[in-house]
Amino acid sequence: MRIPSSTLCALSVLLTVSACIKKKPEGGKEDIVIGSAIYKYEDTFMAGVRSSMSQAAQGKATLNFVDSANQQPVQSEKVDLFIAKKVKALALNPVDRTAAGTLIDKAKAADIPVVFFNREPLPEDMKKWDKVYYVGAKAEESGRLEGEIVVDYFKTNPAADKNKDGKIQYVILTGEPGHQDAELRTKYSIEAIEQGGYKTEKLAGDTAMWDRIKGQEKMAAFLGAHKDAIELVIANNDDMALGAIEALKAVGYFKGDKTVPVVGVDATAPALKALEEGTLLGTVLNDAKNQGKATFAVSYAVAQGQAPDEAHTGYSLTDAKYVWIPYKKITKANIKDAL
Ligand code: GAL
Ligand code: CA
Repeated sequence: MRIPSSTLCALSVLLTVSACIKKKPEGGKEDIVIGSAIYKYEDTFMAGVRSSMSQAAQGKATLNFVDSANQQPVQSEKVDLFIAKKVKALALNPVDRTAAGTLIDKAKAADIPVVFFNREPLPEDMKKWDKVYYVGAKAEESGRLEGEIVVDYFKTNPAADKNKDGKIQYVILTGEPGHQDAELRTKYSIEAIEQGGYKTEKLAGDTAMWDRIKGQEKMAAFLGAHKDAIELVIANNDDMALGAIEALKAVGYFKGDKTVPVVGVDATAPALKALEEGTLLGTVLNDAKNQGKATFAVSYAVAQGQAPDEAHTGYSLTDAKYVWIPYKKITKANIKDAL
């Protein structure tokens, strides 16, 4: 009997001969291993994406996850290890999206296709190689939808313009600087409010790095400086919106009829609870389930040398590189669409 030459079977001390025979080519099927690095495990939305990817991988491939602990050097090292282990595809959620170019160079040298998700590489990096893909959602769309929720609210509640100056005095909690979702949600939410016929005045704004505790701290500071002059709180994600709600509660909001509209993005479970309680006015469904499913589907296709087209993944591919998952407006009225 000829001893199989694959690395797997070179380790035959650990494997039974029959396991080797089973895994032998036949239809060219070997155990498919995909390496995936998440920017930070401790991120509410990314935890949802990760769990959806795991579910999708069940019975199909081995999906190895690593936590980059919000440090690009840590992630780059983990990617080197995946490459050394000859994974069949990389599914990467970069810490710093401008580092994608370097990650692509490494993967290309080893001929391992890369699927980025949630943090969109710059267009020039995406063009570096034809085996580079991105799965995500259009950041500008989420900003626009968030702004539309605000417009609907002020249309039905004209008294929300508390000082009756015809302008909406707002504060904004932004995500990580440089992140496409932070930059574009900020820009397009305000643009949508103005297109809806309202003038706006920014009282304060600061980054809270997608984080609930930081959101609460920054909001407490905004309240200290501007008190009840704040007519609207915009957050680039739900965790920061929920932090802001805590700070508002601490100074007496959401009791009796003292209220202020707060909007976020993601539609995470705790945000849906806040919608039900009436503290969060609205959010935008950032579809973790489909983003995770599509990220796995594209990675799985390219890991097998298939084209990651709709026939193989169930998701349509734009410009041969991008899978876009749509966002959706969520308020108390259509909460079930996000459950
Ligand atoms: C955004 C999401 C944020 C955060 C971020 C991480 O799409 O809205 O909550 O998870 O991604 O990159
Ligand atoms: Ca006003």
